Amino acid sequence: MKVRKAVIPAAGLGTRMLPATKTVPKEMLPLVDKPVIQYIIEEAVAAGIEDILIVTNRAKSAMDDYFDYYPELETRLNQAGKEKELCEVRRAADLANIFYVRQKETRGLGHAIWRAKRFVGDEPFAVLLGDDIMKASVPVTRQLIDAAEKYSASAVGVQYVATEAISKYSSVKVSPLEGRVFQVSDMNEKPTPEQMLSNYAILGRYVLTPEIFDILENLSPGYGGEIQLTDGLKQLCRTNPMVAVDFEGRRYDTGNLNGFLEATIDFALGHPQTGDWLRRFILDKAKHL
Ligand code: UTP
Repeated sequence: MKVRKAVIPAAGLGTRMLPATKTVPKEMLPLVDKPVIQYIIEEAVAAGIEDILIVTNRAKSAMDDYFDYYPELETRLNQAGKEKELCEVRRAADLANIFYVRQKETRGLGHAIWRAKRFVGDEPFAVLLGDDIMKASVPVTRQLIDAAEKYSASAVGVQYVATEAISKYSSVKVSPLEGRVFQVSDMNEKPTPEQMLSNYAILGRYVLTPEIFDILENLSPGYGGEIQLTDGLKQLCRTNPMVAVDFEGRRYDTGNLNGFLEATIDFALGHPQTGDWLRRFILDKAKHL
């Protein structure tokens, strides 16, 4: 089993980040000097992915423009001797083979993934949610691919979350396999603490086998009236092997204001251009809080 393709669902309405996301896709909001979606594509590429499909919608064409060439701008930068900027602008367009498909109706994450059926064909594929950014020494997608390949299984990326927080996520029923890898036998979407199956929650990264498409095609709407990927995975894990990887790394949910600000501050602190300045600024501010 070799994973060469990735799907990035990015067709959500981003209502938690309004009003900014009324006209700017949340995936295009800048984290320091790059849009959120670029970090995600860079993770996929670092994990060895060659072809990437972004599931988008009619309000998100800024994403395809961003990963395209921009001759007028590039000529101007070249004439002005702005080599670093030129290099960065070109690099974004040459990162990977990027494809697009539109989700014509916002019917949920499971429905968005189903739109990738023709692109994926008969291969396993990675899924990276378009608003979840990971900071990790080994790309989280790579950690999942390694486990999926080893066990010839689908894989979901999980981390331990507090019981009070589990209702924001999907909780998985797991039994130990080895180290940070578990076998999955069940899961549920946004459970109450009484309904949760464990404190392990799925956080934005998956490796799936193509059997998921037939399941998604026949799925009824679930939580929130949407076609839920978790409901599809619940069926998949009953008939096909699935593992959960308690991945090493820090996850930022940039689809909500607090997560977006945490990511902005952490990434700016680690950035050579802004790190020292921001550290001084925060320390100075803290004196007056
Ligand atoms: P979210 O629930 O985090 O995104 O979906 P959202 O729907 O944009 O969020 P809010 O609640 O309105 O702020 C998880 C992922 O699934 C994608 C989103 O783009 C995000 O990457 N998604 C969600 C789709 O692609 N299509 C959908 O119909 C729903």
